[in-house]
Amino acid sequence: MVERLEAEDPTFEILFTPEDIKQRVEELGYQISEDYSGEKDTPLILLGVLKGATPFLVDLSRSVQHPNLLIDYIGVSSYGSETTSSREPQITMDARIPLKGKNVIIVEDIIDTGYSIDTLLDILKARKPNSLKVCAFLSKPSKREINVPIDYLGFEIEDKWVQGYGLDTNEKGRNWPYIAFKK
Ligand code: IMP
Ligand code: MG
Repeated sequence: MVERLEAEDPTFEILFTPEDIKQRVEELGYQISEDYSGEKDTPLILLGVLKGATPFLVDLSRSVQHPNLLIDYIGVSSYGSETTSSREPQITMDARIPLKGKNVIIVEDIIDTGYSIDTLLDILKARKPNSLKVCAFLSKPSKREINVPIDYLGFEIEDKWVQGYGLDTNEKGRNWPYIAFKK
């Protein structure tokens, strides 16, 4: 029996342990490595959405085997305030690597209403990448307001507020090595 970790904030309960996360990230990395194994000469960019996707992006990048793997980040403001999604996300920091002709995977922490990813897909498609896919660690399908494609998904979750592994509540909790939900 593995001893169950307690969340350091007693108002949260652990949903995915560091081991659950590690295993799923490795599976996703393996899947991506397989899918792009025929395109080793074309750069493959993992484009992390700041700030929530940073731990996931770092772990995922080390699980993907590709000789032309590049990493970049893009900033999108998704939340106007607290825990309500903004319907008009804005780019707050742009990627530095030109995406034209490259294989791009947008790496997100969580897809909620879908507005952030939908906006990003529109903006990034215009840059003519060779391909553009979406990899999200979590998805809350019951909260979706716009249908968005998810090519690689860690876990589907219920409509619960989650924190940890990059996900925050007003910037807090991003450093938790597990993902916990608000009780
Ligand atoms: P969307 O545009 O509604 O899909 O919002 C996606 C973004 O909302 C994610 O990148 C997160 O930053 C944030 N978000 C959505 N649900 C949660 C949550 O449960 N905890 C923390 N952040 C969340
Ligand atoms: Mg985010």
